Amino acid sequence: MLPSTRSRKLIVCLKECVKSTKKIAPYSTAATSKAIIEQESKYAAHNYHPLPVVLSKGEGVFVWDVEGKRYFDYLSGYSANNFGHCHPKIVKTLQDQAGVLHHTSRAFHSNVLGEFSEMITKLFGYDKLLPMNTGVEADDSACKLARKWGYRKKNIPKDEAKTIFAIDNFWGRSLAAISASTDPSSYEGYGPYMPGFICIPYDDLVALEEALKDPTVCAFMVEPIQGEAGIRVPSEGYLTGVRKLCTKYNVLWIADEIQTGLGRTGKRLAVDYENVRPDILVLGKALGGGVYPVSACLADDRVMLVMEPGTHGSTFGGNPLGSKVAMAALEVLEEEKLAENAFQMGEIFRNTLRERLNKEVVREVRGKGLLNAIVIDGKMADAWNLCLQMKENGLIAKHTHDDIIRLAPPLVINSEQLEESMDIIVKTFNNAAK
Ligand SMILES: Cc1ncc(COP(=O)(O)O)c(C=O)c1O
Repeated sequence: MLPSTRSRKLIVCLKECVKSTKKIAPYSTAATSKAIIEQESKYAAHNYHPLPVVLSKGEGVFVWDVEGKRYFDYLSGYSANNFGHCHPKIVKTLQDQAGVLHHTSRAFHSNVLGEFSEMITKLFGYDKLLPMNTGVEADDSACKLARKWGYRKKNIPKDEAKTIFAIDNFWGRSLAAISASTDPSSYEGYGPYMPGFICIPYDDLVALEEALKDPTVCAFMVEPIQGEAGIRVPSEGYLTGVRKLCTKYNVLWIADEIQTGLGRTGKRLAVDYENVRPDILVLGKALGGGVYPVSACLADDRVMLVMEPGTHGSTFGGNPLGSKVAMAALEVLEEEKLAENAFQMGEIFRNTLRERLNKEVVREVRGKGLLNAIVIDGKMADAWNLCLQMKENGLIAKHTHDDIIRLAPPLVINSEQLEESMDIIVKTFNNAAK
């Protein structure tokens, strides 16, 4: 049957539309580091200031640039690559699941989320998992959960809930996260900010108790070691004190273990150093094995069940691909005893560097496990230049402030690799005086 005049007109019109659709303009595949950096600078937003190195391959603790030079990776993708680059089990899991079922949304069930939820809740000892994707989403979800709990369970008057944070906290770049930030480079120029957020000094239980006395406080969210602030380790007993005070004042303790968790500090969780249990545990970064963004809030039913269907969600959160990858990452953490390795390597790392580094340049070597920092004397050396010099010598790391360099290799590092990389650090720092 011939199409009607109206349908024919419609078909012609659609053909015209297809013809006029723009083709992808030809784009170049740059080959040298210099050309690639120029291309990125021209076409990508300037919201980072990367070290001038272009990586094209990774394996274990090593990465290679496009010219073939090998480096020790001492950033580990901001602690997402705890298991090293291209861990065979994690990569295989990703490939296998991608070819079977990658995304369903939670409008339907998948055959993986239940399994992942049971595994992770049993491993960390909580009733329920709220799966998300990036760290900032999981932290934001924890804050939402705490507010709702405050209204439902603590009878906080509507819209009056307060959340307490520590000065110098870092939990990402969303509007909520920067509203809690005390770092002008994070928040300046992006106001107005989220109300109900209050900051108190870190590692200060007196200030915390004062803040928690306000009956409209629903939560205290804190990193067990402040990462972006420059690996600030609180005094022993701080986490125990936080637990006691939050219980005393009926306030939820949210532990942001997105950077410190999953073996990074030499225990499965940094709170394990004091054997304390937060009300909401937030994980991210390494939970996705460095290959896929997966984050999580873990809590008991008394907290988690205040969120009913339709009141919170995420298109990708809990998808089968991310869930399988996270299960593989947790298995690798346990099977390869990576927390234990991080603990042992970390002890050697700090002791050796404290002994061998030039005290005129270095003020302090601090950290736990393989989350460490070198604090330099800004009058004697410059952190950015030191990072450039370490790169020349075959190790890449990044500074967190003008005088602090974070050193966080993948947790799979072995003792020979540790020795070789420490030689690079010592050689660089001891030749660095301005
Ligand atoms: C402690 C902490 N929380 C949250 C985040 C945010 O994670 P993401 O960048 O995946 O959103 C970070 C990122 O560095 C972090 O260190």
